[in-house]
Amino acid sequence: MKEYSLDKMTFIVKGGAGSIYRINDEQIIKIYNNISVKKLEERKRWARELFKAGVPTAISFDTVVVGDKYGIIFELFHSKTVGQQLIENPEKLEQSGIKMGKLLKTIHSCKIDDPKAKTIKHLIIQWAKAGVDHGLLNLRDVRTIKEILDAVPDANSLLHCDFHEGNVMIQNDEYLLIDIDDSCIGHPLFDLALHYLNHDLLSYNPKLLFLSLGITPTIAKKMAKLTRDYYYKDMDPKRKKIYIKLCKSLQPLLMVTSSARALNNPEFVNEKYQKYIKYVLVLVLHLNKKIVIKNLNKLRQIEGELL
Ligand SMILES: Nc1ncnc2c1ncn2[C@@H]1O[C@H](COP(=O)(O)OP(=O)(O)OP(=O)(O)O)[C@@H](O)[C@H]1O
Ligand SMILES: [Mg+2]
Repeated sequence: MKEYSLDKMTFIVKGGAGSIYRINDEQIIKIYNNISVKKLEERKRWARELFKAGVPTAISFDTVVVGDKYGIIFELFHSKTVGQQLIENPEKLEQSGIKMGKLLKTIHSCKIDDPKAKTIKHLIIQWAKAGVDHGLLNLRDVRTIKEILDAVPDANSLLHCDFHEGNVMIQNDEYLLIDIDDSCIGHPLFDLALHYLNHDLLSYNPKLLFLSLGITPTIAKKMAKLTRDYYYKDMDPKRKKIYIKLCKSLQPLLMVTSSARALNNPEFVNEKYQKYIKYVLVLVLHLNKKIVIKNLNKLRQIEGELL
């Protein structure tokens, strides 16, 4: 693997997964905090697969060593994120919401037939297991999470898993996906439920919302509505109704597991929030289990009828 030195690069930003540096006018490097060579190569392969499948995302060039860390070189977009654009030009909100809805539909219409592709169910179980390692969840909680996940119909749609205004850049009016580290395959419902978590729920914590998405609660609420209205526009009404219901009832499961994932990053550990998860959300997760599974079975039935 080629070695790179930070001396010749310009720092752009430090995010949850690592740091981004600009190498030159055409390339950036994403240096990961904690990653094995095997995972790094898998990520590069996956990024290339998405690009080849027609997903509007950055070209990935090479895996490299930087000091004691590893990174991937990506094409540099000469652009802003959707979030940055909305803060500067709020009048673009309407058109941006529609474009985000279109992009989410394009992502989900991409079907991936790769037996090695990561699945969302697998990813969520990994997050839950990290929660067990950190003492946030116990094995009974993981069993409940598995039971709920088992009821979600399997699918091979591409999912981004962190689709929001901070992870889409605009270049020459084209909306381009970045931060594809958690992208995987599965049922589109998960991306919509995570979109709900990232916008509607995160809006109750404006500081964290701005840190993650780069937007204010007012913008997040408007964008969430526009994006999802576009997404649901031509959907069968029965399917839409059950999607909306499930997006809400899957929140405890997603909050618990995605918070457990964040525990791997010490900067995100907040004891008060951990207690809240442990005693409130985990309880709701168990109490809601039957009703969530009932609604998931209903989704399966509706989708079966629509085939
Ligand atoms: N291909 C690219 N071209 C130009 N800038 C980029 C590119 N990829 C990432 N960036 C810049 O780096 C920022 C962080 O990138 P990314 O979302 O991939 O990292 P992250 O570590 O996951 O960050 P976070 O955890 O905050 O989401 C983006 O908001 C963008 O400003
Ligand atoms: Mg990001």
